[in-house]
Amino acid sequence: MTDAAYQKCINPACGAEFDCGQALFKCPACGELLDIRYNWDRIEVPGRLSDFARRWAGRDNRLDFSGVWRFRELLDFCRDEHKVTIGEGQTILQQNDAVAGYVEMAPGCLYLQYEGLNPSGSFKDNGMAAAFGHAKMVGATSSACASTGNTSASVALYAHSCGVKCTVFIGSGRIAFGKLSQAMDYGAQTIQVLGDFDDCMRQVQAVCTELGLYLLNSLNPFRLEGQKTIMYRIIEALGWETPDWVVVPGGNLGNSSAFGKAFSELKELGLIERIPRLAIINAAGADTLNDLVNNKKLLWNGGKVDQAIIDDYYAELTARDFSPHTCASAIEISRPVNLKKCLRAIDVCEGVVRAVTDEEIVDAKAVIGKHGLGCEPASAATIAGLRHLRAEGLIGADQRVACVLTGHPLKDPNVTVNYHKEKQGPFANPPIEAPNDLDAIIKLIR
Ligand code: F0G
Repeated sequence: MTDAAYQKCINPACGAEFDCGQALFKCPACGELLDIRYNWDRIEVPGRLSDFARRWAGRDNRLDFSGVWRFRELLDFCRDEHKVTIGEGQTILQQNDAVAGYVEMAPGCLYLQYEGLNPSGSFKDNGMAAAFGHAKMVGATSSACASTGNTSASVALYAHSCGVKCTVFIGSGRIAFGKLSQAMDYGAQTIQVLGDFDDCMRQVQAVCTELGLYLLNSLNPFRLEGQKTIMYRIIEALGWETPDWVVVPGGNLGNSSAFGKAFSELKELGLIERIPRLAIINAAGADTLNDLVNNKKLLWNGGKVDQAIIDDYYAELTARDFSPHTCASAIEISRPVNLKKCLRAIDVCEGVVRAVTDEEIVDAKAVIGKHGLGCEPASAATIAGLRHLRAEGLIGADQRVACVLTGHPLKDPNVTVNYHKEKQGPFANPPIEAPNDLDAIIKLIR
């Protein structure tokens, strides 16, 4: 533990504080979410963000090599010997003019942040490096998470790397095969619950309380500290400048919450001049945030969130036995646990929320695959959402936009194969059947 960090309830009417030596996940006083806060005057934060570039020369130091821990002064809650890393965060920001054309943006303006390049193939590894650091710090030996797939893959990989046991809860039939294969292969005890992600999330919290397991969902505020570094790396790749917009898919809303926190801290520290705007994209079949923000006008309101709006909304989902459905299984979530932190991020970043259909998602995914490094369906919601925001004129053609592609294309081969083989959209590229005959094959080559 360091003396610079502490946990604090996000509810301003409560504001209870706790040291970082405890694994809490919710405020014991009022049940709200917890934040990690820092006494910045006790931390030697570099005077300029570009000072972090000196770490590039120290790649033989495991912490300097990590794309999370090379920014360690900005998440200074545990001592170095507890920090866990398996080389996460070696991701790239690619300027992509072909995909820019698809969303009618000017050349040079659209950037894709490939978080699929992480060790387990998704952005989750940024959060796990930090959360397992905390788990080691508090001496946890057994951990658990609920997951639509990527969290379970990442937990399984990180748990095994640092000698912690893990149990993962997944909704039966609700997980893409690439992710399920990882959880099993990395040795997680995998529990398939007859229900959806929201059911798993409820169960895992009860199990963690009952059995004293360390919880690794994004309720865990230490995880979000690691996910802040995705924004630091985007700024780093832009020559230490901020983009105008960051576009991110919204599921359990951990990323959007973390990004908002990253930017408000950087601004507070005087390390950036301007906070980028945030666009959070839901799938239409799992659009709680979109509905609550755009239709029910739910706001952060200085921390005094109107709980009745949320309660009524969830009661209505329960009354009609609603279960979310989208081909972007990663974001098939209707009761996002970080909702209030996300509202805060929307407030800080002048954020907007949109929802996109599965058809729009799979088309955008094919375009990213053809012209870029590819991604899984949930990640492609960013480009589909950006198309909406461009058509509305909210984002200008020459603004600088970074879309976070959260997961690797191999995570969900079924959606990809079905799109192309069944010619589900204009970008389908189905295989061509050929007889086993050279002349016939040659005739088929375009
Ligand atoms: N993209 C991918 C590929 C994801 O796996 C997730 C979340 C999201 C986006 C949404 O991110 O929750 O921060 O809003 N996957 C979680 C899981 C829920 O269990 O793997 P968020």
